[in-house]
This record gives sequence, C-alpha cells and structure tokens, in this order.
Amino acid sequence: MMNEYPSGIYLAKVSEINSIYAIEKKCFPSRVAYSKSQLKRLILDNNSICLVEKNDEIIRAFIIIAYDFDSLIGHIETIDVDPDYQKQGIGLKLLKSAEIDMKLKGVGWSQLEVSEGNSSAIELYRKSGYKVKERIAYYYIFNHYNTRAALRMIKTL
Ligand SMILES: CC(C)(COP(=O)(O)OP(=O)(O)OC[C@H]1O[C@@H](n2cnc3c(N)ncnc32)[C@H](O)[C@@H]1OP(=O)(O)O)[C@@H](O)C(=O)NCCC(=O)NCCS
Repeated sequence: MMNEYPSGIYLAKVSEINSIYAIEKKCFPSRVAYSKSQLKRLILDNNSICLVEKNDEIIRAFIIIAYDFDSLIGHIETIDVDPDYQKQGIGLKLLKSAEIDMKLKGVGWSQLEVSEGNSSAIELYRKSGYKVKERIAYYYIFNHYNTRAALRMIKTL
C-alpha cells in the first residue's frame, strides 16, 4: 500500500516499542511520562495511531493521535522528538502527518493539551495554526514544567 505520509514518516509497529519508549523517557520525567504498556496500547488500539519519523532506520521522533469519532475530534496525545534531533523541523513534519491522517479519517478538528510552561511545544503548535481554546488550571496531577496548568489548543482542519 502507498504511504500517505511525507517521506520518512510511517505507522509504528509494536515491535518498535523499545525505541519509542526510550524517546518518551528522554523527553519527559518518569512521573509524567507514558509507561511502556500505555504506549503499546496506544499503538495497538483501534481508536489511536502512532506515527514514527525514521532516518537511516533510526526512529528519531513519534506522535500519537487518539480519535473520538463521535465528536469528530483527533486528539494529539503526545509528540516527542528525540532531544538529539530537535529544532530540525521534525516536529512540524509529524504534526502535518497527523493532520493528513485525521483528514483521511474525516475528522474536522485537531485538539491537544500542553503544559503552560512548555514554551517550545506551544510555539510549535501556534506555528502550525493551533489556537488556545481554554486554560485548565489544574490539568496535571504533578507539576509539569513547574506548573499544573495546561492550555487546550485546537485547530480546524
Ligand atoms: C516540542 C517539540 C515536539 C518540537 O519538536 P522539533 O522537531 O524540535 O520542532 P521543529 O524543529 O519542527 O520546530 C518547529 C517550530 O516550533 C517552535 N520551536 C520548536 N522548538 C523550540 C524551542 N526550543 N524554542 C522555541 N520555539 C521552538 C519554533 O517556532 C519552530 O520553528 P523555527 O524552527 O522556524 O523557529 C520537541 O521540542 C519535543 O519533543 N519536546 C519534548 C516533548 C514535548 O514537550 N512534547 C510536547 C508535548 S505536549
């Protein structure tokens, strides 16, 4: 089957879980990172997908989208670029790929929550056309980037 995504972007295989989990651990402290079993479930579940970015067979980044087909919303669960490869446009490419998948599935909106303190991610989302829908003061159980507050951001596809 033809790959619908930009070059270097593929649907994750569950056999790639160790590389994916290694990036998650590099990107987030353990108390807020997804566990390996949570990530595995998100790769395998019918209502979510994981896309990886690969270069020379090395997985450098991934994005997970969970679908709510009743409300026609695609939810960006997480986007992780290995710190060794950040600031090279991979995050933007993964977001575009997620939007391709959402449009193929007929959903109308992409939504996400991001820590109010995560300025690089907020900048990435703004650059991709996301707008702040609301601020949620106590979204995280633990401090995340020194705050429990999150911004819910949305983009019409
Ligand atoms: C947020 C993240 C995914 C960005 O990925 P990336 O591949 O480095 O981003 P890109 O190179 O595609 O950058 C695209 C735009 O995002 C913004 N951006 C990315 N990193 C930034 C930084 N450190 N500071 C400020 N703006 C930043 C810029 O607007 C950038 O455009 P520019 O390069 O023209 O300035 C990456 O930093 C990451 O994985 N962080 C850790 C995990 C995380 O916080 N994920 C988000 C969870 S909600």
